[in-house]
Amino acid sequence: MTDKPRKSFGSDNHAGIHPAVIQALTEANTGEAVAYGADSWTERATGELKRLFGTDGEAYLVFNGGGANVLGLGLLLDRHEAVICADSAHINTDECGSPERMLGTKLLPVPAPDGKLTPDLIETRLAGRGDQHFAQAGVVSLTQSTECGTCYSLPELAKIRDFCRANSLRVFMDGARLANAAAHLGCTLADLASHADVLTFGGTKNGAMGVEAVIVMSPEYQANALYLRKQQMQLSSKMRFLAAQFLALLDDDLWLRNATHANAMATRLATGLSDVPGVQIRYPVEADAVFARLDPRHIAELRREWTFHVWDEANSIVRWMTAFDMRESDVDSFVASIASVAGTLS
Ligand SMILES: Cc1ncc(COP(=O)(O)O)c(C=O)c1O
Repeated sequence: MTDKPRKSFGSDNHAGIHPAVIQALTEANTGEAVAYGADSWTERATGELKRLFGTDGEAYLVFNGGGANVLGLGLLLDRHEAVICADSAHINTDECGSPERMLGTKLLPVPAPDGKLTPDLIETRLAGRGDQHFAQAGVVSLTQSTECGTCYSLPELAKIRDFCRANSLRVFMDGARLANAAAHLGCTLADLASHADVLTFGGTKNGAMGVEAVIVMSPEYQANALYLRKQQMQLSSKMRFLAAQFLALLDDDLWLRNATHANAMATRLATGLSDVPGVQIRYPVEADAVFARLDPRHIAELRREWTFHVWDEANSIVRWMTAFDMRESDVDSFVASIASVAGTLS
């Protein structure tokens, strides 16, 4: 990895690939292996994932997070059913309408402070159940950690799971950043998974080159998974190279160390900014994201040197993401730059 100072707080996807993942890919690149997942790397990776998630069901490897969401949601939905999600959910805002297009479902977004649904918020979208004129809510989609950099606590997840069970709703969890949530909560992946029927586990933002897993918690939902993954063009012929990436991340809990580090860098950034006038941290910093409100002139000036997203132009809110490979010195120079711009232009 490069020694050059980081200039991007734009996304955890701006990071490179962890050297252990590259090493695992190189080691897997010897000789031939049977295609489409019938290889020993896939058997080991999916076996280890199933063990970590404590499932009687299956684990399926796919190329990317959008594909994982479409596959996972599709396993839980009947053809007339709709998905309740937070308005900020990636499936609602950033996937080019793929759940609607690919699954023919309807999303029922709910304005959710801090990106988190609650039973009360979910209930607001249940009107019309049993009425043939309405799309029938069948699945609740949670993102853990959320698009706002917050995490559902285990008691919050338990309340949602119990409410959903009582109301015949299945729970899907978009876990593109599940590792960051486990690191923040100090819980196991199985603890998180016990609150969902199907969930995803992101490798890409955690140091992989590109791999995600769809974890099915109960065999009743997996009958069509192999066929849907193929139809949705998420079946890799050279599957050993997807599996090798997860084997590297799972070895000696590298996934957890990467997420813990990324989270710590976000906390360092937020803490470093706590005394800087004119910077207001917008949400609790619980994963690898910091959202802040600052003067639009400061945003423009900072963006001359640094890469990051303006999340909400109207309210002058930016998103700063950290990553597994960011150093304390990268964060500290960004803090110094923000403080200097805020001081000069105020
Ligand atoms: C919460 C969440 N889910 C899913 C995805 C989709 O991942 P991909 O870009 O690999 O399709 C992202 C990507 O940013 C994400 O943030």
